[in-house]
Amino acid sequence: MSVHIAAAKGQIAKTVLQPGDPLRAKFIADNYLDSVKLVSQTRNIFYYTGTYKGNEITIGASGMGIPSIGIYSYELYTEYGVDTIIRIGTCGAYSTDLNLFDVINVENAASESTYAKYAWGIEEELIPHQGNIFESINQTAAGLGKTVIESNIHTSDIFYRKDAAVPAIAQKHKCLAVEMEAFALFANAKYLGKSAATLLTVSDIIPTREQISSDEREKALRVMIELALESAVK
Ligand code: HPA
Repeated sequence: MSVHIAAAKGQIAKTVLQPGDPLRAKFIADNYLDSVKLVSQTRNIFYYTGTYKGNEITIGASGMGIPSIGIYSYELYTEYGVDTIIRIGTCGAYSTDLNLFDVINVENAASESTYAKYAWGIEEELIPHQGNIFESINQTAAGLGKTVIESNIHTSDIFYRKDAAVPAIAQKHKCLAVEMEAFALFANAKYLGKSAATLLTVSDIIPTREQISSDEREKALRVMIELALESAVK
């Protein structure tokens, strides 16, 4: 076990799908995996290992925000020998160029966060996806006839803010949307020489306040979940 994950060594697969929400991890495990075992539930952050189309895979949550995914992804890579993490999350669109339910494969994550600098001496405010999994996702999507938008996104520590303007860093790097984790995942993977991608479904359009309703959420996320699973076992 590691500090925050109770699984024994060997109980986590080499590839991990990482939603933010532990109940989404449970949903994926219940609906898509065979021979599933709950391998950690420390702090109610569930990790399930099972098989998808015969391939071993782990689905486990990151929690919300840079500190949380910073901890879980680091322990997965360093304590459990994980090679690849695919974050699967939601994002808010900064403009009406995106639509609800669009799926983004993140090219680079831009952030004002000091996480990468103080953890690993990585000074850049823009960190790319790591390894080959980004390209694998694009190829898998093309093969399945699913559309993914390749884009930079903003990883922010802030969900609620007084100013409605698109933050300067997001404008500078042409970020179409905002979420709260990809930058730390990419920073950890970069430092450790591992693979990492982030798939995001647009769950809200910030300027119009349109949102995916809770009823629609489960169905909406299936496109991204299935793409992530297929890419993971390709
Ligand atoms: N901000 C940050 N993260 C998010 C948002 C948002 O508006 N929507 C979904 N994830």
